[in-house]
Amino acid sequence: MSSPALFQPIDFGGLTLPNRIVIAPMCQYSAKDGCMNDWHLIHLGHLALSGAGMLTIEATAVEPEGRITYADVGLWDDATEAAMARVLEGVRAWSSMPLAIQLAHAGRKASCDLPWLGGAQIAPDAPNGWQTVAPSALPFDPADNAPAALDRAGMERIRDAFAEAARRSARLGYDAVQVHGAHGYLLHEFLSPLSNRRTDEYGGSLENRMRFPLEVFDAVRAAFPADRPVSMRVSGTEWVEGGWDIEQTCVFARELEARGCAAINVSSGGGDIRQQIPAGPSFQVPLARAVKAAVSMPVVAVGLITGFEQAETIVATGDADMVGLARTVLYNPRWPWHAAAALGAKVHGPDQYRRSWPRGVGDLFA
Ligand SMILES: Cc1cc2nc3c(=O)[nH]c(=O)nc-3n(C[C@H](O)[C@H](O)[C@H](O)COP(=O)(O)O)c2cc1C
Repeated sequence: MSSPALFQPIDFGGLTLPNRIVIAPMCQYSAKDGCMNDWHLIHLGHLALSGAGMLTIEATAVEPEGRITYADVGLWDDATEAAMARVLEGVRAWSSMPLAIQLAHAGRKASCDLPWLGGAQIAPDAPNGWQTVAPSALPFDPADNAPAALDRAGMERIRDAFAEAARRSARLGYDAVQVHGAHGYLLHEFLSPLSNRRTDEYGGSLENRMRFPLEVFDAVRAAFPADRPVSMRVSGTEWVEGGWDIEQTCVFARELEARGCAAINVSSGGGDIRQQIPAGPSFQVPLARAVKAAVSMPVVAVGLITGFEQAETIVATGDADMVGLARTVLYNPRWPWHAAAALGAKVHGPDQYRRSWPRGVGDLFA
């Protein structure tokens, strides 16, 4: 059997990942005051034994008002940093998997209830709610409380909070940082002509709409050690006529690459309630393919990638350099083991589980 492309190592900004499977960031809505706890140790602990090439920690808010919900993880003070350090110590004691953290600000989509409680926006004067901010005072849903339009001081505060969280991430020993520029959260809100109606140098033309996300990227890049990668997650399109689209994404990707971005993770949607998402297997792969044609940094495809051959084909045909997995790896946290067994490759796994291999699987661990 020829060596599968999915299990070839890859250079990610100077970091060598053992294979092309990255676990996408997944909010757990289980923190208290931004602090991780034993849930995160259990959740990240088992994903860190999955054999993936890298594990991305969930959207981590750079300030309390940047949380999607009151139970989001944060990294804005010594208490949130100490709670995260404890979880990482536990994970690292038993896994050598490279760890990335996604730094985020939810913008106008902050101050919401937990998804399993309906996920509705919580009014600023209700318990667990706060006033949201955005490029312009336009609510995501017309029924929502409108966000406050950020002034320059507010933008600088948030940019500096991203940089401070990147410094804390460096201290925590993260191998990489991913900046969250997707899914209708703050940086995406600046990019999109639908949510950004500013008349200053941060709104209007594509160059102006990209300005704040690029400033945040630069601040994070400068704050995180130069020998460790910083990447960006984007929505390749918001699936709405007249909105952020793949052509603008490619321009943005080139700007990021010129600034030292190590990789780009291409998701989609989340910016506008009118979105019509053609969800289906590999539905975002064409977006990754388009970005890949525009840049030379590694591109990650994500979204309903569930099959081993499906993932192998995406990498082998060059549609993307890596695949991101979210729901499928929650459902089957040993997905990379099973992919390796099916495709004839090996993964890093714990010695304690060596006796688990069924007859015919052979020596699965590298
Ligand atoms: C429970 C859950 C939490 C998520 N949290 C985040 C997040 O923190 N940041 C992010 O960029 N995307 C988040 N996503 C989106 C996933 O990273 C991924 O892009 C999406 O689910 C599509 O991949 P999939 O089809 O493999 O699930 C989340 C998805 C799920 C299911």
